[in-house]
Amino acid sequence: METRNLVLIGTSDLNDMRMLAALLEGNEYDVAKASDSGSLRDQLRQRQPSLILVDAYLPGLEVADILRAMKSDPDMAEIPVLGIVPAADVGLRQTLRRSGADDLVGRPFEADEILLRLRTALETRHQAQESANLEKLLFSVISAFESREEAKKGHPERVARMTRRLGERMQLSPADQEALYKGGILHDIGMIKVPKHVVDKPGALTSEEFELMKLHTIWGERMCRPVQSLQRVLPIIRHHHEQMDGKGYPDGLVGEQIPRLARILAVAEIFDALSSDRPYRARMSRPEALRYLHEYASRNWLDAEIVAQFLKMVDEEGWPEIPPLEHETLNLEKSGAPGGIRDKKTPV
Ligand SMILES: [Fe+2]
Ligand SMILES: [Fe+2]
Repeated sequence: METRNLVLIGTSDLNDMRMLAALLEGNEYDVAKASDSGSLRDQLRQRQPSLILVDAYLPGLEVADILRAMKSDPDMAEIPVLGIVPAADVGLRQTLRRSGADDLVGRPFEADEILLRLRTALETRHQAQESANLEKLLFSVISAFESREEAKKGHPERVARMTRRLGERMQLSPADQEALYKGGILHDIGMIKVPKHVVDKPGALTSEEFELMKLHTIWGERMCRPVQSLQRVLPIIRHHHEQMDGKGYPDGLVGEQIPRLARILAVAEIFDALSSDRPYRARMSRPEALRYLHEYASRNWLDAEIVAQFLKMVDEEGWPEIPPLEHETLNLEKSGAPGGIRDKKTPV
């Protein structure tokens, strides 16, 4: 049986209350009633309504203050608010909007309009909740997968934190910083589909195995695509192995064709990969890993400006939060430069 939505109506006007309650009850909503702001505040907490429909004027505390408090409380912030305001009162409309009302309905009431606004607000909330649930599911999938892979334990979380901090220092928008964090967690989720013997292979991959490994970018993007709240993260997942010179994968994008967030994540990701153990090599010391970042920037593999920002971050803030290194060994061939960040031996 589908649960009915509970709408909390806040109004001191008895006629309005009667009319609104009858309208909602006649359309399969449950109704709770508050005729003053104290009762509105109490019922909000006690009954956790699906939505509140509230008059801008209620006896007692200012409605705007109650809404502000509600929107800053994590337990209630997601409850949609429809404000009731006289259509002509522009000042009051703005006050209510600024206090957190998601939508407004004008007085005199139009029954159809109220029902439509209500449905839209509930549908929007429902989609946001679904999206958040899917995100949580993907996050737990990645942590379950990660705990099977000794070598990569902590990699997603470290990359997520480093890259978000880098984004913050570069003064990216909060939405981009959040995308970087989520991208850090999810960037390798497509590896779940890569056969375990390929992921764990201690030596160089065959061309066939390498082609399979490369697909983790496309698979990861596909897995996350249905989640509405991850749309900004998709380009990061797909393009975190592109190279500035166009020799990366999966699309061979060149320079600024590579989405900026993906270029940022690539720097933190490679630093973490180089300074962690892998089945085919031991970790590098952190200073050595930084030297390689520098080298990769000069070879036009990584974005040189972002590498410079990363080096500056380490210089000013110390080493990023990564577990202490028990032994710092450099296990690369001494002769010449490394094979490359995207070569068959380094599926970071
Ligand atoms: Fe990757
Ligand atoms: Fe990775």
